[in-house]
Amino acid sequence: MKQERIYLSPPHQSGDEIKAFQKVLDTNWLAPVGPDLERFEEEICQVTGFKYAVATASGTAALHLGLMTLGVAKGDRVLSSNLTFAGAVNPIIYQGGVPVFVDAESDSWNMDTRLVEEYLSESNGVKAMVPTHLYGMPADVFKLEKLGQKYQIPLLHDLAECLAGKVNGEKIGKHISRGILSFNGNKLITTSGGGAFVTNNKEEAEQALYLATQAKSNGIGYHHEAIGYNYRMSNVLAALGVAQIKTLSDRVEKKQQIFETYQSELSSLGCEFQQETNGVTSDRWLTCVLFDQDSNLEIASIVQQMDSFNIEVRPLWKPMHLQPIFQNEKVIRGEISDNLFQRGLCLPSGCGLTHNQQAYAIEKLKGVINQS
Ligand SMILES: Cc1ncc(COP(=O)(O)O)c(C=O)c1O
Repeated sequence: MKQERIYLSPPHQSGDEIKAFQKVLDTNWLAPVGPDLERFEEEICQVTGFKYAVATASGTAALHLGLMTLGVAKGDRVLSSNLTFAGAVNPIIYQGGVPVFVDAESDSWNMDTRLVEEYLSESNGVKAMVPTHLYGMPADVFKLEKLGQKYQIPLLHDLAECLAGKVNGEKIGKHISRGILSFNGNKLITTSGGGAFVTNNKEEAEQALYLATQAKSNGIGYHHEAIGYNYRMSNVLAALGVAQIKTLSDRVEKKQQIFETYQSELSSLGCEFQQETNGVTSDRWLTCVLFDQDSNLEIASIVQQMDSFNIEVRPLWKPMHLQPIFQNEKVIRGEISDNLFQRGLCLPSGCGLTHNQQAYAIEKLKGVINQS
């Protein structure tokens, strides 16, 4: 019998989704406002530790709102992770900003804080910093926030992949000012597509909501003093979010178990993994492996071989400085991201991954490694 395809990080249902949709239909809240939207925002605050959440149509939209809220405008430089997904960078361009890509640390794979410090001590005109918390691993938030304070540069943390990471055992929103989340289909919880801007500042949340709803001024009638966007999440999708978020802690536990199993099975073959440093706990949204520096393994060939066993694996995010669209932008170093990209592979990490499926994926991967 042909092995059923094992996906990288497919959507995973909690079981209450149909009930949630039925309630929305029964109450006719098929709208971009409604009780589920409010409830979902409250739940987001609960699980992340932020005081305010504005649910949006996508994480990219949330990032765009965040940058606008911080006043990022034409010509402003914004520090961004080099090893990240393009969705973390595109909104900087929407605003006419200029991304400056910062290389990764070799242990956490997150933005290298020593490079940030060096750059800020030598340059003026940086308007904001947008560090990605990669694959569920919180960045060094203490160092980054301290640098932000020293140089008076606000941070917008990209938590699209890190909904449930912890810092010193606490929710991440207790330690940072603001960030964005994604509820795309591949994330820890999903609304099919969606995101949120999260902050501890009431005025920022109000401003983000205003911009997300066509910048309509308060009061009767349609009065506009700014250009707005239609970025709000619908109440229907928020209902899905409420059903999903209930099982968040089980999901995180499962993701962490998946990581532990890969690590214990593959470490003896020279494989390395993203490391928790500076008191952080990763939610292990996606487990990615680094192959031995001296091996002849080629990521493209492994992807193909694993595909022939009906197992989906993928390269790490292609660093921004290697993207044709960003070839003219500044990158601070880049060698570490490059090296991680050459050696790294994302492994099946879905919450629904069974013990047998993971064992099968590991067996096939070991075979590929041993053949090389
Ligand atoms: C690091 C990062 N930032 C931003 C985004 C964009 O989020 P969305 O797909 O919800 O727009 C994603 C992925 O989906 C991401 O992985």
